[in-house]
Amino acid sequence: MSQFLHGEQGAVLVASQLTSCAPTFNAKLYAASQTFDEARHVEAFNKYIQTRTKLMYPVGNELKSILDKILTDERWDLKFIGMQIIIEGLALAAFQSSRDLTPDPVLKDMLGLIIRDEARHVTFGINYLEEFVETLTEEEKEERAQFAYEACWLSRERLCIK
Ligand SMILES: [Fe+2]
Ligand SMILES: [Fe+2]
Repeated sequence: MSQFLHGEQGAVLVASQLTSCAPTFNAKLYAASQTFDEARHVEAFNKYIQTRTKLMYPVGNELKSILDKILTDERWDLKFIGMQIIIEGLALAAFQSSRDLTPDPVLKDMLGLIIRDEARHVTFGINYLEEFVETLTEEEKEERAQFAYEACWLSRERLCIK
């Protein structure tokens, strides 16, 4: 639950960066509305932790590295790939399995509502990037693929018990 909260805090920051650096007005508007969604998710997880679990862990190293990588890269499309596709795709799967497994009806409802928002974010990311990627050179595409690969690798490490 704490890592969900930290991921959502990262999402607020990335979405707000995209509001300023996305290349088209539509994408900026979309990122602005996503910033508001992510702020609501932060509030929901934070309140859930404060009132129900009452135990908060710091951000895990791998999640922090992925978020730092996305937040510090200046290329807007890498932020889109990292956040909208890798992190949110992963979050969507993690939220769905938590919703299916939890016996708590409050958490089930809360995750159901958040999943609805995240599914919209992932879909927008994929649709928006599809056309853009076609305009890139082979070398630029390879850089993006490498970035996505590293983010997936870090995500896998996040789940390995050391
Ligand atoms: Fe979110
Ligand atoms: Fe999201």
